[in-house]
Amino acid sequence: MEYTRLGSTGLEVSRLCLGCMNFGSDEPWMIDDEERSREIIDRARELGINFFDTANVYSYGESEEIVGRAVESFDRDELVIATKVYSRMGEGPNKQGLSRKHILDQCKASLERLGTDYIDLYQIHRWDDRTPIEETLSALDYLIEEGLVRYVGASTMASWQFSKALYTADIEDYERFTCLQPEYNAVDRHEERNLLPVCADQDIGVIPWSPLAGGFLTGKYDRDADPDGDNRAATDEYTQARFTDENWDVLDAISEIADEKGKTPAQIGIAWLLHKDLVDAPIIGPRRMDHLEENVGALEVSLTDEEIERIEAPKRPVWPPAGKDR
Ligand SMILES: NC(=O)c1ccc[n+]([C@@H]2O[C@H](COP(=O)([O-])OP(=O)(O)OC[C@H]3O[C@@H](n4cnc5c(N)ncnc54)[C@H](OP(=O)(O)O)[C@@H]3O)[C@@H](O)[C@H]2O)c1
Repeated sequence: MEYTRLGSTGLEVSRLCLGCMNFGSDEPWMIDDEERSREIIDRARELGINFFDTANVYSYGESEEIVGRAVESFDRDELVIATKVYSRMGEGPNKQGLSRKHILDQCKASLERLGTDYIDLYQIHRWDDRTPIEETLSALDYLIEEGLVRYVGASTMASWQFSKALYTADIEDYERFTCLQPEYNAVDRHEERNLLPVCADQDIGVIPWSPLAGGFLTGKYDRDADPDGDNRAATDEYTQARFTDENWDVLDAISEIADEKGKTPAQIGIAWLLHKDLVDAPIIGPRRMDHLEENVGALEVSLTDEEIERIEAPKRPVWPPAGKDR
């Protein structure tokens, strides 16, 4: 396994992060089997992955609990456990968002579910329009002061919001976000026009989510056939929305390059991300053991500038992405 420093920090993370959203039962496409989830986590650790990404909202705490039980036997000092806060965790007031109250309540709950004394990377899952960013940053700062959190990060939002959070942290002397988790893959490149220039300028670590566009970039779907029941696209609108003419053209280029190199489209898709200088660790989301083994194989793939251009040629990144008014 290769390791890198996360953004400008000294924190060592594997070049692939294990996404833990599949470990749970909230959606029909999730694993819904703790034993099988645990086998994937164990194998990831064997392969050298030390970086795990979950969230309080993934199956409403179930993912954090599964991760917590699975990592009990590992050396905690080597692990980098990331989780998130923001999404609604129950009915009624104060069960969602980035208020001081909700952040402190949810950090405590995540620590309990993860069975750990501290979270390595605590991320805000989205921007909260109804809470001043100063309140959010001061709550996160407090968690760091208390030793409950080691680093703070953010996820999908508009670049002006992320920039505001960074300059507010600087002015008020709060801990800065050291890492950003954007949606980023070969068919979803809109963040090249939004958050990624901020990350490059501010030396922020980048850990892309959905590196295979929800499975679309594995090449297992057919332009002319409906997805079958065993694959995420059969029930997941996110993956289904990737089935556009432009995206099929990107996938054609990826599949051709995969054939030429004796690799798989999934490996080329992840390798494309690994070749971006600002990307620290794509967050892979295997649902099966063979997915994990295959996706880790992306680390062995080298792409030329010409191959990268072929992958990027069919689609121009646009912000905001089609169908979204941000
Ligand atoms: N910050 C955020 O808002 C946000 C949002 C989404 C995700 N995330 C994070 O990013 C992680 C990864 O996201 P993702 O699950 O959407 O990643 P992804 O890699 O784009 O999609 C994963 C899905 O693709 C299929 N797949 C993966 N590898 C495969 C392979 N080698 N061959 C065939 N199929 C394969 C599996 O679905 P099927 O087998 O069912 O087809 C799997 O569930 C999550 O676990 C989470 O930690 C964060």
